[in-house]
Amino acid sequence: MKATGTIPLYDPRPEVEELWDELNEAIQGVLRGGQFILGPNVEAFEEEVATYLGVKYAIGVNSGTDALVIGLRALGIRPGDEVITTPFTFFATAEAISNVGADPVFVDVEPDTFNIDPNLIPEAITDRTRAILPVHLFGHPCDMDPILKIAAEHGLKVLEDTAQAFGAASKGRKAGAIGDAGAFSFFPTKNLGGFGDGGMLTTNDAEVARVARMLRAHGSEAKYHNEVLGYNSRLDEMQAAILRVKLHHLDANNDARRDAAERYRRAFAGFPGIVVPTEREGEHHVYHQYSLLVRDGRRDAVRAAAADAGVSTTVYYPTPVHKLPVYAHLGARAPVAERIATEIVCLPLWARIEPSVQERVVSAFR
Ligand SMILES: Cc1ncc(COP(=O)(O)O)c(C=O)c1O
Repeated sequence: MKATGTIPLYDPRPEVEELWDELNEAIQGVLRGGQFILGPNVEAFEEEVATYLGVKYAIGVNSGTDALVIGLRALGIRPGDEVITTPFTFFATAEAISNVGADPVFVDVEPDTFNIDPNLIPEAITDRTRAILPVHLFGHPCDMDPILKIAAEHGLKVLEDTAQAFGAASKGRKAGAIGDAGAFSFFPTKNLGGFGDGGMLTTNDAEVARVARMLRAHGSEAKYHNEVLGYNSRLDEMQAAILRVKLHHLDANNDARRDAAERYRRAFAGFPGIVVPTEREGEHHVYHQYSLLVRDGRRDAVRAAAADAGVSTTVYYPTPVHKLPVYAHLGARAPVAERIATEIVCLPLWARIEPSVQERVVSAFR
């Protein structure tokens, strides 16, 4: 990165350069193997992910969105059911609930982690509630123990949206391996990102795994014997081969992200009106995004100043999901999420970001 160039939000190139030979070997292996959809790399990758997370089953699918849809259906969520989730997430979380015919019920978030507030979940439970869908936002795990307790008390399933948190852990348990199932995304910008779309569903439940495998292949366990309506949602060999290489480096990359976050934390200490992200005790944050709050209505002015200084920033998420046109008619209220949406700003961060680049970001904010 030239000292004078615009700093992007995310730069995948240093990692690609670093892993060039390994990636090339993996890609050429797929080309020579002649099998492109499912296959030995997908199978091996599923096993490697299951081992890494400490779960029994991992099922490769087409995207994180599909992992959510297939996960919800495999957990038995049906049209007319209600699923409790957060309004402060990427749209796909709620979209998946609606696309299985269920209704998302939005519960406000904690002001420090931006994750669903477990204290507010009980009052949102009705006789139609069937599941809770917490999102480990930006790589910080949700407060899972109270969520699991509420779910057990009310007979609800828990599907973790782990799209942003590969490698994160809550009290020693890997995110995506804590609830009944976990949904992962391999979108290129994710902590474990492929070179295209991809996703995975993880579970310890053999029946959930069986149904998920069936749903990803047009609702058939045996070829040409379709039992239910499913999807074409298979992970491809090329992505699996690439992701196998990257999985070996995931922990090192997540540590590098944590180091970069720590440099920002120290640099922003004492900045008036800036609230840096929290890492709660017992939680292992993997900083998929580094999003801080700018208080006192100054967020947009600060972003404009950063842009003038050649620093890219963005806002995840400018409109909480319950306020988007598709859900606004529900009239849900989430004042904490609504306030955070006006204060939050995402800074440049990737595993190999150089300290000098971060210093430029901090000076631009200053
Ligand atoms: C929280 C969250 N859920 C779901 C998704 C959907 O994943 P994908 O883009 O792989 O479909 C994403 C990412 O895009 C996400 O950030």
